[in-house]
Order: sequence, then structure tokens, then C-alpha cells
Amino acid sequence: MSQHCDCLLTNVHLATGLQNGLPYGEIESGILAMHDGRIVYAGPAKGAPAFSADKHLDCQEAWATPGLVDCHTHLVYGGDRAREFEMRLQGVGYEEISRAGGGIVSTVKHTREASEEALFVSAKKRALCLLEEGVTTLEIKSGYGLELESELKMLRVARRLGEELALTVRTTFLGAHALPPEFSASEGDPRDEYISLVCEQMIPAVASAGLADAVDVFCEGIGFSPAQCERVFVAAQAAGLPIKGHVEQLSDLKGARLAASYGALSVDHIEYLAETDVAAIKSSGSVAVLLPGAYYFLNEQQKPPVAALREHHIPMAVATDLNPGTSPSASLLLAMNQAAVLFGLTPEEALRGATRNGALALGLTNKGLLAAGMDADVALWDIDHPCELSYGVNMNKPSHVWQGGVCRA
Ligand code: NIG
Ligand code: FE
Repeated sequence: MSQHCDCLLTNVHLATGLQNGLPYGEIESGILAMHDGRIVYAGPAKGAPAFSADKHLDCQEAWATPGLVDCHTHLVYGGDRAREFEMRLQGVGYEEISRAGGGIVSTVKHTREASEEALFVSAKKRALCLLEEGVTTLEIKSGYGLELESELKMLRVARRLGEELALTVRTTFLGAHALPPEFSASEGDPRDEYISLVCEQMIPAVASAGLADAVDVFCEGIGFSPAQCERVFVAAQAAGLPIKGHVEQLSDLKGARLAASYGALSVDHIEYLAETDVAAIKSSGSVAVLLPGAYYFLNEQQKPPVAALREHHIPMAVATDLNPGTSPSASLLLAMNQAAVLFGLTPEEALRGATRNGALALGLTNKGLLAAGMDADVALWDIDHPCELSYGVNMNKPSHVWQGGVCRA
């Protein structure tokens, strides 16, 4: 008697991502069966159960990988920062622009002014670029509203992208991204005052509206101090939300240690993370999210401590950081290439970073592997070997993508 499934892929090489002793968790000449949104079998054809299927695809020795996961983006925003790019090319630094009232705050102005519909339309274009290259799960942060209504507007747009596109969207509230301009003039420490607003009003409101799956902060000289970030972590936990952190991007404020001590899902950027602090993030199980697009675009020189992360077996994810200021790039495959070329990840690490470890950075334990019981998020590639995904720039698009078992093609 054969087992029935919705969709059966045969004659397919599987980059399962499982640690089966082979590179990429490879299974040559396998089959993959999907039913009710889940993978029910991913393994060798030989010895597999007999399947009957509503849809059957002979993959002609193409490679299947887990659907890609972009676990760190800011893709909902108004305007652009092309003029700022020109200034930076003339030698003005990112932090200098920010301190002069440009940078994040200039995107805040355009995002506040934009209608919800206009934000949706522009964000959808960027999300579609990611979707076309095999992304099935996408994280989107707020943080360009910096007042409750505008933050809620951004998060609603992010949720709507998940409803209208064939994507799983996870939203992150990043109210502690920058000091809103209207606070600069306030007496006392305006940053402390704004953080009080974030903790006492914004986090409870965002949580009760069910619009955020996590809370993030920008722990940096031009962002918020570790003490201020800690207040945000406490408020997030009180609201039942997991935390993440933009930490050690431009300097070493020990934000990663702090975030890890609050059980952060991930610590992101970490170019300035001291090797001696790597062990401290091990115990929290936090994922180290590498964002080589921002490193590249800002022409940074300080690289994250990849060898130490490897040595301590800390899962490394790779994401685009898609945003108008530091990483205007809507290609996760390019981020994989940058992670390999600039940070020295192996193509296998880069693929794991954009699949399994990206999923773990979002707390999604059911995604990022090709194995029975996992969500049926699968990309099929006409390539000879999975290392090609990190090698070719703008060369690879998946021929088919399944998200929750539904084929997009
Ligand atoms: O991840 N570092 C803080 N946030 C973004 C940049 C945001 C911006 O410049 O608009 C980042 O690099
Ligand atoms: Fe970011």
C-alpha cells in the first residue's frame, strides 16, 4: 500500500542541512514528499516508502534546499538615502551624518509622512525581490516611526506582506532604534525619556495589538546605551516578547553580553564583539547574525570574530539587513556571497546561515531543514552543487519554491 501525499519530488539531490556527516547534509538522488504543509519524507529514494501524490515532479537531478530565511531586515520604510550615499562617498562618515541629524532620522521623516498604502507598495517591491530568489521566511523590523502610531503603521504593513505574499513574516519592534527628533530638545537625558516612552507605552501597545514577535534595540553611541537597552529588554520580557539586539556594529559596548544575559534569540552585526566575549553568548543559545551587506556598504574594516564563533559552536546566520542607510540590498544570495568573500564563511556555512540558523534566530525551530516533520518550505535549484549559491552573483534563481507545501511557480 502506498502512502498518499500532496506533492512528491523525485530524482532530486537534497541539501538537507542535517548533520549527517556529509557536506550540506547531502543526500544524492533522493525523494521529498510534502503533505498538509509539512515534509513527510526527505531521504534516499532507495528504501523510501512508496508514495502516491496529487502532484509529482521529476526534478532531473536538480538540488533542493530549505527555503531561504532572511532573519534581519528593515524593509518597510519611506524615501531613500541616495544623497547620503553620495556624501559618504565624499568622505563623510555614517556616524557623523547621524549626529548631524541625517541617517536613520531622515528615513523617520519620510516614513512618518508616507501613507500605509504607499509604504506597503514600496515594501512589497523589495519583498518580491527576496521572494524571487527563494526566500520563504522574512523578518521585518519597525524603527523608522519612533512614535506609537507610525511604529504600529510599519508593523501592520509588515504583517500585511505576510498575509498577501507567499512568505512567513516575523515582525520585530525596534522602537529603540534612534532618538526621535522631537526629543532632542527635551530637558534631562532625552534618551532616557524616550526609552521610558518605549517601555511604558509602546511595548505594551504593540504587544497587546499582537503586532510584534520580538523586540530589538540599537546598542551604540548613536543609538542607546547598554543601561537604556536593558530597560527595553526588561519591558519586552514583561510583555512576553523575546529580544534581539543590534550590538557591537560600530564599537564594543558589550551589548552582546547584555543581550545574551536576557536570553536573546540573536545578537546581530557583532563586528566589534571581543573574542573574549564570545563564550558569554554561548550559554544563552543566541544566534550570531552576520550582516556583511552593511559592512560592505559602509566600507567597514573590522570583521566579526568568525573563527572564535566557530570554535565555540555558536550558530551563525547570514541576513541582508535590507535598509536604506547601511544595506540597500534586496538579495540574500548576495549576502551569502559577501559572507563568504568578506567574512570567510564557507559556502556551506553561508547556506546554513540563510536557512537553519536564520530560522533559529527567529525562534522558528520548524524551519530551515529538509527533514520529516519540518515545514514544507523548499527551494529547487538548477545547479550542479550547492556551493554555487554562494559563488554566483545574480546567476541563480530557484526554478520552483514551495512555501508551507504550496508551490509558488
Ligand atoms: O542594521 N544599525 C542600525 N540600524 C540599521 C541601519 C539603519 C539605517 O541606517 O537606516 C542597520 O545597520
Ligand atoms: Fe539592522
